[in-house]
Amino acid sequence: MHFINEEDSKSVSDWIIKNLDWIKDQPDSTPSGHKGVLHGLFDINQPYMQDVLEKVDFPFESMERIDKEMKSFYKIPEDSMFGTLGWMFVYAEEGYTCKWHKDSCDCDEDGMTHIRLNVLISKPEEGGNPLWRDEEGKEWTQEVSKNESWISLSGKYEHSTTTTKGKTPRILLSLGYNVSKKLVE
Ligand SMILES: [Fe+2]
Repeated sequence: MHFINEEDSKSVSDWIIKNLDWIKDQPDSTPSGHKGVLHGLFDINQPYMQDVLEKVDFPFESMERIDKEMKSFYKIPEDSMFGTLGWMFVYAEEGYTCKWHKDSCDCDEDGMTHIRLNVLISKPEEGGNPLWRDEEGKEWTQEVSKNESWISLSGKYEHSTTTTKGKTPRILLSLGYNVSKKLVE
């Protein structure tokens, strides 16, 4: 079990809550097809986003520490390439359910797969846990606590979430990398 540092978690979640209106105004921050209120920032590791985020005092140092810690815990090589959408965070209110999907990897033929290192830096009173489904249709979930990280084989299994309930928002920090299948499967 691995927990991220509460100070870093708080600095990122405080920033998100404080800048929610700004986030809502960013292009592509409100993907359609999800139940409930959802806003996200995607590819936040990309140079064009870094310029944008610097202007609004995004806590990059906390993000770097969280990334380093999680990569080290899950033994993800330092030089791994970012997966599609890179670092992202997703803010969701009561009633949110992630739609079932698989994360794409443009690298499958090379024995690579897309994984995501995830952590909830804010957890609703109920729900918001990850769900997975294999090719035979078998579903399973994992009960996670606030700041408790998990790895998702998101390129291999379809995934979703249990529906969020309660006034506390669900804030997911999700760091995507392309890694060798041998490393994680
Ligand atoms: Fe996904």
